[in-house]
Amino acid sequence: MSQLEKRYEGKAKILYATDDPAVLLTVYKDDATAFNAQKRGSIQGKGVINCTIATHLFQLLEQQGIPTHFIDMPEAGQMRVRAVQIIPLEVVVRNIAAGSLCRETGLPVGMVLPQPLVEFYYKRDDLGDPLLTPDRLAIMQLATAEQVEQMRTLALRINSILQDFFGQCDITLVDFKLEFGLDATGQLLLADEISPDTCRLWNRAESDPNRRVLDKDRFRHDLGDVEAAYQQVLARVLAQRGAGA
Ligand code: TMP
Repeated sequence: MSQLEKRYEGKAKILYATDDPAVLLTVYKDDATAFNAQKRGSIQGKGVINCTIATHLFQLLEQQGIPTHFIDMPEAGQMRVRAVQIIPLEVVVRNIAAGSLCRETGLPVGMVLPQPLVEFYYKRDDLGDPLLTPDRLAIMQLATAEQVEQMRTLALRINSILQDFFGQCDITLVDFKLEFGLDATGQLLLADEISPDTCRLWNRAESDPNRRVLDKDRFRHDLGDVEAAYQQVLARVLAQRGAGA
């Protein structure tokens, strides 16, 4: 792997070129950041855990007809993906109020939203990933109006599939972030990852607001037992999906 050309290094993953220009190899890292990388650390085993969880979730979504960049997981912690041009938007879906929604609107943490909320944030660390209004989205031309609608529709379908799946794992899918990209033919594909780094996941068996957290909020807010929470999500996903990756 060392001879592969590094294409891009993000906060949680490194992308390498492969012999096939249409395929990239993603290596998931243990590094963790929060609050626009102001907080940095590492979660032991996270790369392998998140890659395995993301593999199962991408496979589940593909089985349900969602086009994703996922190809396969050749080794633990490594994922082959279709090369895409990432659209610089973070598409967040929320079922329950938490995080920035509560900070910015005053809605109480844990409030069940009357319907899923889809939000588009501009993926620009230097601007602090601002929430975009529909009108700003339209004038910025980061994606066509049709692509924005496609992303919204896909995000809601993905939400239903993942809500059902995590429900079977006795986990509440509070909210999550998606990224989409365009392949060489212009097809819109779900990209990046879906993992405890990019979702809020609450253990339904726990009512305590700190103990129920099974996601990166444990790292963000120094709640402790971060690795154990990620392991717990992996174990439940594997139990639900069957152990073969
Ligand atoms: P927020 O409440 O901080 O806006 O986060 C909403 C969801 O998006 C939550 O599940 C965490 C995820 N997220 C990311 O994956 N990356 C990010 O950079 C941010 C800010 C949130």
